[in-house]
Amino acid sequence: MKFTLQHTDQKTKARTGLLETDHGPIETPIFMPVGTAGTVKAVHQRELKEDINAQIILGNTYHLYLRPGLEVIQKAGGLHGFNSWDRPILTDSGGYQVYSLGDNRKITESGVRFKSHIDGSMHDFTPERVMDIQRVIGADIIMAFDECTPYPCDKKYAEDSMHMTHRWLKRCIQQFDTTDPLYGYSQTLFPIVQGSTYPDLRKQSAEFIAEQDREGNAIGGLSVGEPHEDMYAMTELVCDILPADKPRYLMGVGTPENILECIALGVDMFDCVMPTRNARNGMLFTSEGIINIKNEKWKEAYIPIDPALGGYVSTFYTRAYLRHLIMSKEILGAQICSIHNLSFYLWLVKEARVQIKAGNFDAWKTAMVKKVTTRL
Ligand code: GUN
Repeated sequence: MKFTLQHTDQKTKARTGLLETDHGPIETPIFMPVGTAGTVKAVHQRELKEDINAQIILGNTYHLYLRPGLEVIQKAGGLHGFNSWDRPILTDSGGYQVYSLGDNRKITESGVRFKSHIDGSMHDFTPERVMDIQRVIGADIIMAFDECTPYPCDKKYAEDSMHMTHRWLKRCIQQFDTTDPLYGYSQTLFPIVQGSTYPDLRKQSAEFIAEQDREGNAIGGLSVGEPHEDMYAMTELVCDILPADKPRYLMGVGTPENILECIALGVDMFDCVMPTRNARNGMLFTSEGIINIKNEKWKEAYIPIDPALGGYVSTFYTRAYLRHLIMSKEILGAQICSIHNLSFYLWLVKEARVQIKAGNFDAWKTAMVKKVTTRL
């Protein structure tokens, strides 16, 4: 993998770059649609490529390991062979999913023992095992096994957890660096900064992660319920420590506003379930603001969803028709809303890249944040 920094904004810390993988290029800043179970819910690969121009999608170690399981994926030639997506893939390590399991998991120094949400069976994830699993899944970018601390989190817990995540990282690196990719293209391992909302822990963690000198770095443990000011403060502190010549990935973030603010702090990569999850409930992001398509006011709105985006579904279907589909719980409604919202997120980061290159990012961001937080 190769990362080339292209433009650096003068007023903010925003940058554009090019990340090159064996499955093709990724222009940064980028948003990565989430495909937890090997599918971006309700969206075909052809739509992802041709309508939305997604450059990279996410998969999840925890879900894919449980179902369909490693044997099925390996026989298909990895996740790319299995789901027929031929552009880059990133897999999360399961650190976050296991954290979400609540009482159904036990964390020890060795790793995590957890209960499957599918059939109640017991499983063990260790840093070594999670590297091996991600070798089998075959994503271009794989994530270290970490503990994502909850919010709020007392300092002693956050500190002990951060040190354990660091020890787990050393084990991940040892395993990753002594094993080979299975399918003839290269993979890279991103470590994850933790430290909850404590500036001194975040600093310590970012310095430790930077020292590992991997090809890219991630920031975890944010967007878990803390105030936005804390999320921005931690992101800024960490970005200022992580090397400038490597991509920075802020995990699980966020709203369009969060993405714009964090691009300004120097983040290059984002993922979030929000555009697809909210789509299925009829919440639409547009270049003029947020729409609840179930609202009566759209009943006879014979206008496109968002002509400014220029994509197929956003210009072709009317809000009135889409409201009817969502009110009637038609499957097509969920599809159109999902494609539209992803088009919006990809449009937003593309515009950000254009504005950074043009030297106008700061002014554009201020105007855009006003728009994307407006409820129409
Ligand atoms: N997704 C969102 N936050 C996190 C995190 O802290 N760790 C991992 N592994 N995934 C995440």
